[in-house]
Amino acid sequence: MKIGTVEIKNRVFLAPMAGITDMPFRLLCAEQGAGLVYSEMISAKGIHYNNENTKALLQIDPAERPCGLQLFGSEPAVLGAIAQRLTADPSKINFDLIDINMGCPAPKIVKNGEDVYETVDNDILLEEVFETFLELFEESIEQED
Ligand SMILES: Cc1cc2nc3c(=O)[nH]c(=O)nc-3n(C[C@H](O)[C@H](O)[C@H](O)COP(=O)(O)O)c2cc1C
Repeated sequence: MKIGTVEIKNRVFLAPMAGITDMPFRLLCAEQGAGLVYSEMISAKGIHYNNENTKALLQIDPAERPCGLQLFGSEPAVLGAIAQRLTADPSKINFDLIDINMGCPAPKIVKNGEDVYETVDNDILLEEVFETFLELFEESIEQED
């Protein structure tokens, strides 16, 4: 099957799990046949501000691909810029898909207003997030048609 331009060999995916789906775990799952694996949820703001702990979460190995990146954050422009940076640089190993975490109930996310869906004007924010992504990724979306 295909998601966008990404070929996926089967429909068995490893769900994103904070604290669990680090690179060694993803490699094991890919080795055992998972068609697609996902990172732990990673803060877009943490990447944006070059947080060292966040950087470590961005390591991926060619053997685990296709690999999706799950981002969380509440600023559409930051989410979009990071998604673009981590998928578009041909000199680096890039993530194949971006998943936006929209409903994480973890206290550290909700308390800091870092969750797109839980924030007050959630409909407006959701719209802004999707508009930003559709604009940034317009070319790759059109390629599939
Ligand atoms: C320990 C743990 C951490 C999780 N972390 C995330 C996360 O960071 N992002 C997310 O979207 N879902 C997270 N989930 C939810 C899973 O991705 C998945 O949707 C959930 O476990 C239901 O899938 P299942 O029915 O196959 O168990 C987490 C689940 C568990 C058990």
